[in-house]
Amino acid sequence: MSHKTFNVDLFNFITSSPTSYHCVDRLSKLYKEAGFTHLKENTVWNLKAGTGYYVKRDNGAIIAFTTSPGYPEVNDSSSVCFLGAHTDSPSLKIKPAPFSYTAGLGKLGVEVYGGPILATWFDRNLAIAGRINYIDTQNHFHTVLYNSSTPIVYIPSLAIHLDRSKNNDNHINAQTHLPLLLLQKSSDNEFNFNEWLLDELKKKDLSPAEVLSHDLFCYDPLPPQYIGKDEEFFNAHRLDNLASCFAGAKALIDAAEQRRACFFICNDHEEIGSTSLSGADGSFAMDVFSRVYPIPEDRQRIKYNSLMISMDNAHATHPNYADRSDDNHFIELNKGVVIKTNSKLRYATNSVTSGFFKLTCKQADVPFQEFVMRSDLPCGSTIGPVTSALFGIKTVDVGIPSLAMHSIRELTGSLDVFHLYKAILHFVSRT
Ligand code: CO
Repeated sequence: MSHKTFNVDLFNFITSSPTSYHCVDRLSKLYKEAGFTHLKENTVWNLKAGTGYYVKRDNGAIIAFTTSPGYPEVNDSSSVCFLGAHTDSPSLKIKPAPFSYTAGLGKLGVEVYGGPILATWFDRNLAIAGRINYIDTQNHFHTVLYNSSTPIVYIPSLAIHLDRSKNNDNHINAQTHLPLLLLQKSSDNEFNFNEWLLDELKKKDLSPAEVLSHDLFCYDPLPPQYIGKDEEFFNAHRLDNLASCFAGAKALIDAAEQRRACFFICNDHEEIGSTSLSGADGSFAMDVFSRVYPIPEDRQRIKYNSLMISMDNAHATHPNYADRSDDNHFIELNKGVVIKTNSKLRYATNSVTSGFFKLTCKQADVPFQEFVMRSDLPCGSTIGPVTSALFGIKTVDVGIPSLAMHSIRELTGSLDVFHLYKAILHFVSRT
């Protein structure tokens, strides 16, 4: 398989995953098509050896796992290949009662979700997606995913003539500058946001009586696009961290025939600190792992032998801001998977897990690079440290090199996600 063939499926995955909920929905379809069995947390599980399963929580997190041929037997060398990624990305979230008029224009108020580069959300055709909770005519409660698919809202910039300092000091007030332009006021009737959502759901062959609540986000509906003289790069919305979700899921599916014990955790809410029902700093992963291996001693023996590869995007060196990178640790697009280290353990990597990942890359014939932050700049973090600490498992933090992290469109090399996939495929299929 070439990287271009791989990227066709990757681009489709990214396009159909505008929110964490849609990402989980898409992943569950991929697992289902590959023969994995859907498990629900409220049912009794009768797990079999050499089989693939997946479990979802709160629409936003999903764990897929495979059992070994010898399952449930555990011996001194039993191990599980752990993988981790996150399903959410920085965004603008529509408020519960968002609608208001100013100067004859109807707007939707938003909250900032995570740490987006806000300036990149202006002057874009934005679509809306998320989940909506409603009751039907029998008062039955339903939760459905919603995606406008086409652009529907917009945040126009203030003209330069009205703020001459804009190019020097583009201060953005989230309360007053970010409301989304939705409509022009008309004399015939008052607009009600929940009633509009009700009409949207009716168009989708549902029979809602009343919309009760929603988690709706804006996103850029433009599909991923190649750029560069020879299509060396591509850009896309939510590349952080859909790239890792897809690379991990495809590796798990493609290696499923090997029937190694694997455990791929995709958590929600990484961008807002991970403490939630479906976040890495929550009970989901341990709840599922405890049901797969109910005996505490078995779990501890497995964890001792196991490694987690925590996947999240890394910073490539920006050609116009190269002084923001450590001179000895320049990271180049298309030049390999990035291993991330930090002395304060903002990344969970240590020398042992880094060494193991380098060996994996060598065996898989995949290049790798090492990232460490400049010593005079603070370091970001990932789900790696919290998962490692909660789970008690050796962890390495890795990811694709990317530019413009947390912009509405992020950029990576055309080879990069394919490199990550090949390294992970080797990790989950080695014997
Ligand atoms: Co991330």
